[in-house]
Amino acid sequence: MKADVILGLQWGDEGKGKIVDLLAPGYDIIARFQGGPNAGHTIEINGSKHVLHLIPSGIFHPNITNLIGNGVIIDPYIFLQELTLLRGKGLQPENQLLISNRAHLILPTHRLLDACSEKCKKDKKIGSTLKGIGPAYTDKTARNGLRAGDIFNPGFKDKYNTLKELHLRQLKSFEIPLQDILMDGHDLVTYENNWFSALEEMKKLAFVDSEIFLNDSLASGKRVLAEGAQGTLLDIDFGSYPFVTSSSTSIGGVCTGLGIPPSRIGDVYGVFKAYCTRVGNGPFPTELHDETGQLLRDKGNEYGSTTGRPRRCGWLDLPALRYSILINGVTRLVMMKADVMNALTEIKLCTSYNVDNKHISLPSFVSQNDHFEPVYATLQGWAQPLPCDCPVENQPKNFVDYIEFIETSTKSKISVISLGPERNQSIYKAD
Ligand code: GDP
Ligand code: IMO
Ligand code: MG
Repeated sequence: MKADVILGLQWGDEGKGKIVDLLAPGYDIIARFQGGPNAGHTIEINGSKHVLHLIPSGIFHPNITNLIGNGVIIDPYIFLQELTLLRGKGLQPENQLLISNRAHLILPTHRLLDACSEKCKKDKKIGSTLKGIGPAYTDKTARNGLRAGDIFNPGFKDKYNTLKELHLRQLKSFEIPLQDILMDGHDLVTYENNWFSALEEMKKLAFVDSEIFLNDSLASGKRVLAEGAQGTLLDIDFGSYPFVTSSSTSIGGVCTGLGIPPSRIGDVYGVFKAYCTRVGNGPFPTELHDETGQLLRDKGNEYGSTTGRPRRCGWLDLPALRYSILINGVTRLVMMKADVMNALTEIKLCTSYNVDNKHISLPSFVSQNDHFEPVYATLQGWAQPLPCDCPVENQPKNFVDYIEFIETSTKSKISVISLGPERNQSIYKAD
């Protein structure tokens, strides 16, 4: 068997959680391959809203295994909070969860380093979620990190203290009083106590060599779906650097974050919103600072699932979408949240960028210099509600035109259209 993949094609929050939950019944294993608690994946089931940060989005299907892969970084305290919340909802997530021994840990001092690093950047802040993502991935590549499998070793506390000491020395150079920095309302001592208690709880879960487990599972005919976090435009290599996250959010991250070879990758579902959003700083060519931007934010409830920050909103950026399709080898597009634009009588799409009077159809390194203008096409809006129980061909003509415009411009087919947060607010489109 081959593993299918779901990943975001924009700046995150495309609706990946909903789509993983929707497609999960077709799979035996859902596996997160990168990112950490910076992710916020929302799933709405019968009016109840659930936000997942570290636990994969297949958890609401009792017979599916959910695996946290080696490419993910785990904060045990946040993980335990999530586990507790799910237990409170009557689930027994521990029965369906596996953790890779090779996943790295986010230490409390990683969160302090993240906060100090952002503070020092002044007006050049990345807009990090402050969950310790950058510093934890830095330690991973600097070969200083602690891994999930290490927590069972008798020498773990010593290793922890060595790394913590290193962090405390690094923190001194920021000259920022540490007691001023709170992590989810806690100072370092309290957070650290909570962190170690959570670690004891985490030890009760199943830890595996996930790369072997996944390859064996595929070989024995099990169906695997890899769940991405963030989006391609936040990728450490291909995103709008330096305003990116610190992991490979695109297709390469599946191979390194799960240990699956490229020859074992099947369908790649690329999830995108019918418009664009971005939370945090960095370039956003089609951003709207007017009442249409506010309408998208209000109707789309565009407030961060992890931090609650208002998301910046703008028109769909086709050059960026083409780029993400290219990088990831997307085989199926999934379009989310077109319902948010139901009230609009006119809709714009950015078709190319004008760079020194040359039209370019893909973002290039040069276009990050800000000397470029988005070029727009204007389509008529459908200006009416879109029924979820009606095939695409019977939808309002202007909506069908919008879909066809995107398919033609990207030379890719849309396979699933989501018109609301619930599972049943989805339409499968025939190829
Ligand atoms: P993710 O991080 O990619 O999983 O996305 P988020 O959960 O951060 O943000 C997507 C938001 O849009 C969530 O609040 C979802 O409940 C909601 N949502 C998902 N699909 C749709 C849709 O088709 N229409 C509307 N209106 N909301 C949607
Ligand atoms: P999901 O999985 C949207 C953004 C942050 C910031 C930048 C770096 O829900 O789509 P980090 O904390 O990773 O150092 O922040 O990346 N960011 C996200 N934006 N959705 C996410 O995840 C994000 N995870 C990180 O806002 O701009
Ligand atoms: Mg999100």
